[in-house]
Amino acid sequence: MAKMWAGRTDGHTDQIADDFNSSIHFDSRMYRQDITGSMAHAAMLAACQIITEAEADTLMTGLEGILADIESGALPIDMTCEDIHMFVEQILTERLGDVGKKLHTARSRNDQVALDIRMYLRDEIDEIISLVRDLIEALTDQAEANAATIMPGYTHLQRAQPITFGHHLMAYAMMLLRDIDRLKDCNRRMNLSPIGCCALAGTTYNTDRRFEAQKLGFDGIVLNSLDGVSDRDFAVEFMSACALMMMHLSRFSEEIILWSSWEFKFMELSDAYTTGSSIMPQKKNPDMAELIRGKTGRVYGDLIALLTTLKGIPLAYNKDMQEDKERIFDCVDTVKMCLAVAAPMVATMKAIPENMVKAARGGFINATDLADYLVKKGLPFRTAYKISGQIVAHCIRSREVLETLPLETYRTFSDLFEEDLYDEISLTTCVEKRISEGGTSVGSVREQIRFVRKALEGD
Ligand code: ARG
Repeated sequence: MAKMWAGRTDGHTDQIADDFNSSIHFDSRMYRQDITGSMAHAAMLAACQIITEAEADTLMTGLEGILADIESGALPIDMTCEDIHMFVEQILTERLGDVGKKLHTARSRNDQVALDIRMYLRDEIDEIISLVRDLIEALTDQAEANAATIMPGYTHLQRAQPITFGHHLMAYAMMLLRDIDRLKDCNRRMNLSPIGCCALAGTTYNTDRRFEAQKLGFDGIVLNSLDGVSDRDFAVEFMSACALMMMHLSRFSEEIILWSSWEFKFMELSDAYTTGSSIMPQKKNPDMAELIRGKTGRVYGDLIALLTTLKGIPLAYNKDMQEDKERIFDCVDTVKMCLAVAAPMVATMKAIPENMVKAARGGFINATDLADYLVKKGLPFRTAYKISGQIVAHCIRSREVLETLPLETYRTFSDLFEEDLYDEISLTTCVEKRISEGGTSVGSVREQIRFVRKALEGD
């Protein structure tokens, strides 16, 4: 069959060219956006008296019918069509005759596809944000339950200072809150309508782009028609926000993997989110966390692929841009899957406080507090730091720990040491004293929890 665009050529392409050129097997997922956009277009054409009200009604009924039939399965999508836009128009014309052929007045597939992607991403961003919120809630609930659970805080993966597990988890809640913000920000710039830009130059018809934009829930219109059809910044921004969020999920996954190991055993994942080995009976593997970490690379790949596709193409539309969709869809699917599995995995994981506190003890994690003790007794910090370092070195040599080193030994390093030092360097005190805003004290962590919950409520 000759193509709908037959005219300049006879419209007959080689099978291999058709297969190579067509996008319907992936862009059919935007059928709802495509049909909704067409409905608004028909309404605009009538409002501007480019077609009659009666014709618009016929088109509207026809489009509604197509939507209902695709949704019920009565109308299978014809994969021999070039793309979803052609498919809808073809069915419409089959069903309505000549009126169907009027729908494409004053538009092009170039502005149509740009419109569809924006509408598709707008919906997906809402869903992704709701999944991120579920994960933040799971993190916050765990943080609340573990607001006083002491664990070692690390720098360079070396024990650094005692913190609480709740504090650690809330760090991720904060990152994810920023991720939501970035997605919303991207949505704000994206929510402008490109429809009416037509092929590239606008149109000679007396159209009303703002009418159509408003009907479709956009905040305004793209102001340059060349930009409207060739811009995919919104997709790049969306994928950048996703890549960043995946980086957060990946870091968290890495920690979950470490914490689940026998070497750490800070926590145990629920059986429902782990797998076994086909050969080693003792294994309980954190596959979900590993897959999230692994799929992060895939989302980075989606972003880089799109950036690379866009970098060399002149204005305005070029077929290269059809490559945007598979990357966008893959990114959406991957991020949604990762979030959907992360939230219940976090909600059901169990902290093992005794192992955390054991790891926090005896590793000189309170050496900073020892130095601070001397500062409070009047020494300058650098001098106090040096003395504390010497005491740590002594403990390592003599296989002792700060908590139980006798007072007389302490006093050989400085006569400022007194009995009250033991309380000052106890892990509970070390955590409790860190009352600075954002710090690890129980009160401060609860404050962070309140902040995050309020931010979620405010949405
Ligand atoms: N399938 C095309 C895409 O996804 C739609 C736009 C085609 N426009 C054109 N002039 N060939 O990019």
